[in-house]
Amino acid sequence: MCGIIGITSIRGNFREPIGKVIRRCLERLEYRGYDSVGIAVIRGNRIEVRKGKGKIAEVSVRLNFDSVDGETAIGHTRWATHGKPSDENAHPHTDCTGNIAVVHNGIISNFLELKEELMRKGHVFRSETDTEVVAHLIEEYLKMGYKPFDAFKAALSRIQGAYALVVAIAQEPNRLYFARNTSPLIIGIGHGANFVASDIPAFLEFTNTVIVLRDGEYGYIEPGKVYVEKDGVPVNIEERIRLISWTPEMASKEGYPHFMLKEIHEQPIAIASTLAGIDEREFNEVVNAILNSRRVFILGAGTSYHAGLVGDYLFTSMLGLDVHTFISSEYRKYLNAVNDGDIAIAISQSGETIDTLVAVRALKERGVKVVAISNVIDSAIPRESNYTIYTRAGPEIGVAATKTFTTQLVVLTVLALKLGLALGKITSNEYRGMIDLLKKTPDLVQSVMTNLEGRVKALSIYISKRQSAYYLGRGIGVPLSMEGALKLKEVAYIHAEAYPAGESKHGPIALVEEGYPVVFSILDDDNVDALLGNVMEMKARDAYTIGLVPEKYVGKFRDLLNVTLEMPNIDYRVAPIVYVVPMQLLAYYTAVARGYDPDRPRNLAKTVTVE
Ligand code: M6R
Repeated sequence: MCGIIGITSIRGNFREPIGKVIRRCLERLEYRGYDSVGIAVIRGNRIEVRKGKGKIAEVSVRLNFDSVDGETAIGHTRWATHGKPSDENAHPHTDCTGNIAVVHNGIISNFLELKEELMRKGHVFRSETDTEVVAHLIEEYLKMGYKPFDAFKAALSRIQGAYALVVAIAQEPNRLYFARNTSPLIIGIGHGANFVASDIPAFLEFTNTVIVLRDGEYGYIEPGKVYVEKDGVPVNIEERIRLISWTPEMASKEGYPHFMLKEIHEQPIAIASTLAGIDEREFNEVVNAILNSRRVFILGAGTSYHAGLVGDYLFTSMLGLDVHTFISSEYRKYLNAVNDGDIAIAISQSGETIDTLVAVRALKERGVKVVAISNVIDSAIPRESNYTIYTRAGPEIGVAATKTFTTQLVVLTVLALKLGLALGKITSNEYRGMIDLLKKTPDLVQSVMTNLEGRVKALSIYISKRQSAYYLGRGIGVPLSMEGALKLKEVAYIHAEAYPAGESKHGPIALVEEGYPVVFSILDDDNVDALLGNVMEMKARDAYTIGLVPEKYVGKFRDLLNVTLEMPNIDYRVAPIVYVVPMQLLAYYTAVARGYDPDRPRNLAKTVTVE
């Protein structure tokens, strides 16, 4: 879960030192890891490496990245797996001669055997990482007389595991080698420069022309050339060149203090774009595939799992389908139960989450058809699925998923409505009414932000001083509460748990004491009276009660709530899209009040690419 970048350019292409260019690219990858950072630049016939423990802003100034000039460079921002965060373990890693530099994202599973073998041959290792073996392996093959590309390929044939690699070799100052196996890697085709990186925003400032590499592919970039091979055979990449509609502004903070806040505020446009981008043919294919299936399995991790639970609620309660929703990494439970009569909906904003990818592969092996819902074109999960529906949220850089969640909900709700129409569970009038309501959600989200942001910010001061909180709801309010709790936990480091409100009496309420925050999601459904009872129970124990309440029920709850966040009167099936927004803001402002950086929560990376 690291970010890697490689650039090779013609002389004078950037009008600024390449160290400065690569530092900026790394800043856009920092969401993938921020334990340590480093760059390697080919200068003359040698490679200069600057790297250290810490965040980019600090390390790049301390080691003066911006001053390093050259035409070809690689860079890395790390989320530690093998070896603690330290100067020595920071990438790039070099061979004994210092003429080969490697950056890597993933895990080389057989590195210990390789390391022992190479040490026996006299190689001296300077880090605890798995990555360093790659540099020494290439060195070994070069010593044996291999040409650089052949040495690189020979090294690849020896390593096992998940990797995206970029390699600089001093004797070839205008070329960078790359390889992909499981971990994402994307080529950016520019003018006078080519790029290879873990994610598109890294080079978006320079180009939006991309090729998404596939597993098993490797090759090299030069300033005017991209060469890709698989199993020794050249790959025709022309037909895989894509123009991405994302702009550099989308991948920058544009005046916001954090990406998370910017991305929360981008939700009206992200929702509107996802709705506008609905391809009827694509949806109808998926609807038919679901109608022709026996059961529906929904899977995802983290926030995507919560979106799946909302979908589950709609598909089950509204449509009466046989639906089973699970956390991707728990897929093994279902392997004996599924068969070719089933369909799975795999949700992943990045399209690269390894748990979901592995589950998709296992389900497909058993004949299950897979529909991917993703925000990243051509990413691994869509590529390996039978059908894909893309959300159009634009790049999401903050580690906390925000706009990708609401756009996933939009897709799932539209799918549920189309299925409902096809199954005769809803009338065409109701269908049109609900679609019209969905089209109003961008405005509703905007007005909730305008009306409530200040109050939520004030509330965050109270929450920031607490150690724990509950999020309670009923029905579709349960996954919504789970998402609210996850946001608070991951960015503000406050223990937060979600429960079905009815379940709170079966244990969780034991923790409640004076001032304990309990956030209730009250939707306009048939749970309102039961929730009223649950709020009373908490109030009777002196909890600090916070309620997201539809305007029409505000009077009913007012005396029981310490804080009432008034929500629009909106059909409960669409409500999660709007209700989650104050919860996202609460998590954001609480993190800021506690002095944390919500874009870079500790121990987390945006995309989890190791199991
Ligand atoms: O890219 P994905 O949607 O597959 O990511 C799944 C989770 O890793 C992700 O939602 C994670 O839980 C976020 N940090 C939540 O904000």
